[in-house]
Amino acid sequence: MALGFFHNCGTPRSRICVMEDGYHGDTIGTMSAGERGVFNQAYQPLLFGVDRLPFPAPGCEQATLHAFERFCLTGQVAALLIEPLILGAGGMRAYPASVLAALKEIAERHGTLLIADEVMTGWGRTGSLFACEQAGVAPDILCTSKGLTGGSLPLAATLCTAQIFDAHLSTDRRRTFFHSSSYTANPIACAAAVANLAVWNNEPVRERVGTLERMQREKLPRFEANPRFANVRQVGTITALDLVVPAGGYLSQVGPRLRAFFRARKLLIRPLGNIIYLMPPYCVTTADLDRAYDAIEEAAVCFAAGQL
Ligand SMILES: Cc1ncc(COP(=O)(O)O)c(C=O)c1O
Repeated sequence: MALGFFHNCGTPRSRICVMEDGYHGDTIGTMSAGERGVFNQAYQPLLFGVDRLPFPAPGCEQATLHAFERFCLTGQVAALLIEPLILGAGGMRAYPASVLAALKEIAERHGTLLIADEVMTGWGRTGSLFACEQAGVAPDILCTSKGLTGGSLPLAATLCTAQIFDAHLSTDRRRTFFHSSSYTANPIACAAAVANLAVWNNEPVRERVGTLERMQREKLPRFEANPRFANVRQVGTITALDLVVPAGGYLSQVGPRLRAFFRARKLLIRPLGNIIYLMPPYCVTTADLDRAYDAIEEAAVCFAAGQL
């Protein structure tokens, strides 16, 4: 859509800029934009090149902003595609809202569009309805899914500004936005989304999200003080922590073992290698959370004793 916008405006641009360790899905396009690795090695010959920004780790934020500015100066960057505030599958890596705001400011100066992939972060996950709000940023294109139907039925929506919509609106059919799929606007999925919007409008969902955020925060201090864990972090309703292991990373052997350990305790916790995260449903109870955190602590004890 971003490329189509520039094409239809008669000023074509050919590059997409993304962030290191991003994840955006499993099509050739989204795999191209995502981090490369063993997960998409088989498709490597078909993946196209993108401009990658270094992750804005603490103290390195300027390097990210400078890299983006340099890419934008080519005049070819149609869009920056980014997961706002926290990268999900790439390791639950969080970065400050101020970086997102600064990236948007640079994008605006160069006429580059900001595509916010809010597939994971949307619908209250990071504490606000959408993560971009925390940076005071309105993206040009916003991708939403998962929470759109409260996770009940599969549905995604891609929102865009009136400017982008208008660039695709014409009696000249060559300007049409031609893309959809079999189940685009599936009526049953849309009904689920409408029902979910009614819940958001009529029930105290924001308060519930705030309560969950607080409940999660209260559980973390004991892990911050536990040397078996590192990098204890929280973004809204999401918490994550790294189990300290000799060989970490997505393919760390401990990942499947942890998953089995949790499943044996009737907990659906799916670590990213040695990175354990909790992204609970908003109806979770304190007792449920206690059970999950107790199991995480127990897993670390078992790991240290060589029993996991
Ligand atoms: C940030 C993000 N973008 C995109 C996707 C992929 O969405 P879909 O499976 O609907 O293509 C995911 C899925 O986990 C995601 O977390």
